[in-house]
Amino acid sequence: MLARTRFIMVVVVGALLAVLSFSLQYLHLIPTNPVADQRSQGKSRKRVNPVLHTEPPSPDPIRDTHQYCNYPNLTEHGWEGHSPADYKLLSVQVMIRHGDRYPLYSIPKTKRPAIDCTLTDKRKPSHPLLASFINHMALGGRGHWDASLGSLPRLPNHSSCETGELTQTGVVQHLKNGDHLRQAYIKRHNLLTDDWSPRQLWVETTGKSRTLQSGLAFLFGFLPNFDWSRLTVRQQWSTLFCGSSCECPARNRYLDQDQRRQYRHRTANTELEHTYVAMAKALGVATKTLRAANPVDALLCHFCHSLAFPCSSTRTLSDTPAEEACLTLQHFAVIRRQQKDDELDRREAGIYRRYAVLAAHPYLNRTATRLERIAKSRQTRRGKEEAVFALASAHDVTMAPLLSALGLEGAGFPRFAARLVFELWNGPEVKENSRKKGKGLDNVFIRVLYNGEDLTFDTAFCRDHRRDSAQPLCPLGNFLSFVKRDMFNIINATSYQQACHQNVL
Ligand SMILES: *[C@@H]1O[C@H](CO)[C@@H](O)[C@H](O)[C@H]1NC(C)=O
Ligand SMILES: *[C@@H]1O[C@H](CO)[C@@H](O)[C@H](O)[C@H]1NC(C)=O
Ligand SMILES: *[C@@H]1O[C@H](CO)[C@@H](O)[C@H](O)[C@H]1NC(C)=O
Ligand SMILES: *[C@@H]1O[C@H](CO)[C@@H](O)[C@H](O)[C@H]1NC(C)=O
Repeated sequence: MLARTRFIMVVVVGALLAVLSFSLQYLHLIPTNPVADQRSQGKSRKRVNPVLHTEPPSPDPIRDTHQYCNYPNLTEHGWEGHSPADYKLLSVQVMIRHGDRYPLYSIPKTKRPAIDCTLTDKRKPSHPLLASFINHMALGGRGHWDASLGSLPRLPNHSSCETGELTQTGVVQHLKNGDHLRQAYIKRHNLLTDDWSPRQLWVETTGKSRTLQSGLAFLFGFLPNFDWSRLTVRQQWSTLFCGSSCECPARNRYLDQDQRRQYRHRTANTELEHTYVAMAKALGVATKTLRAANPVDALLCHFCHSLAFPCSSTRTLSDTPAEEACLTLQHFAVIRRQQKDDELDRREAGIYRRYAVLAAHPYLNRTATRLERIAKSRQTRRGKEEAVFALASAHDVTMAPLLSALGLEGAGFPRFAARLVFELWNGPEVKENSRKKGKGLDNVFIRVLYNGEDLTFDTAFCRDHRRDSAQPLCPLGNFLSFVKRDMFNIINATSYQQACHQNVL
């Protein structure tokens, strides 16, 4: 009896604390960060943008890498779908990075990591939806597939993973993402009802199996056992999701410039150079060869899967246990620290941001166009025919420029299965305004969330927006004028066409 009373007390107090902490967070009385709470101890030596709530680069490259792995055994948190009372959710546009994958490079003279890319709910990490997901994918022939997508495998299925193949971890990460957003948007806000029409769902991916499979896992978490016949999956040919607006000479020149900066920054780091020499020596290969094999890519896979770092496979048993024949956590930490330093240097140099504005514009333009159309048709029947939920399944090289262009560089390099979300909200009807209802955009708002964290007021287009009780969210108009024009300010241009064809110094 006593235990029971105490249990109830604990529940009640817990609920009170949760409500309290939510309202404090909501009113921004205390800065919270549900995603970064666990890693909030480390203080950065250098804060470039003190406004950003997102964790600045951690001085501990190993802890930082744990974040990057995005272990699916941790519970998913996030502020998606949270709004003041009386606001109505109109649309959600999501971009994801694919989940955990097998390396794209291999380290010479070492064994490749032993990872099984077949799926089974008997192996960890698993998910309650995994078994039904596997069964559902077998029926994928009923879906509509753009271009080459129909011939890609819809599930990873090699007992020894192939290059770049999505792993079971990657599948589970996206089942979790989809399930999390289902709670936030479908259960709580009825964004899509059971009879959703094919036009209400927009799904696009690049032609790589890991993005296609990540998108399908996400979708299955979001709409379990979705009706295949209502699904069309579109292909984006460019990793920038630039559709028919990919031609942009200035963008490529900014990228070249930033890569030269990156090269100078890397070669100036003597600790890094010594580390590559030591690693190459341990494996008995030329330093140049090792560097070209981008060893950090394979080491990340070992790290995220808790596998021992590789040793030179040419050693005979009698040669072991020579420690220098193996790659070590110290080697890895030096490379990772340099990568974090490079992120800071890149932000300070500002060249990448110019590249990013041009790289991200076509996707942002399509997103803005869609949101504007949905906002304008919000009180008409036509709303039923709009893509109220859009999913773009993409890569780190898609998401990194998008974050940079939005002014969210502090959010860091996109981890596996990262998610970037744009939410469109309709404010409560104001009595005096009721004659104009449905017209104009003055009562429509946008939220931007990255990995569940609300970064709306860190974005370049809403950083200066003053919060007052009448308008607690960011007006959609801010986003629209940013995408149409203001984002080009940093490159002294007023349009994409002009910016793409101007000279780059
Ligand atoms: C989650 O998995 C990772 C990697 O397998 C492990 O290091 C970590 O301790 C696990 N965390 C929990 C809370 O189980
Ligand atoms: C995976 O491959 C095995 C062997 O090729 C095959 O028997 C099995 O049906 C495949 N499973 C799926 C889900 O494609
Ligand atoms: C941006 O979207 C508009 C439609 O709203 C379209 O007319 C225009 O061509 C797009 N611009 C670019 C550069 O994609
Ligand atoms: C934009 O114009 C200013 C002033 O003329 C100049 O200092 C700056 O370098 C220009 N920026 C770019 C990216 O061209």
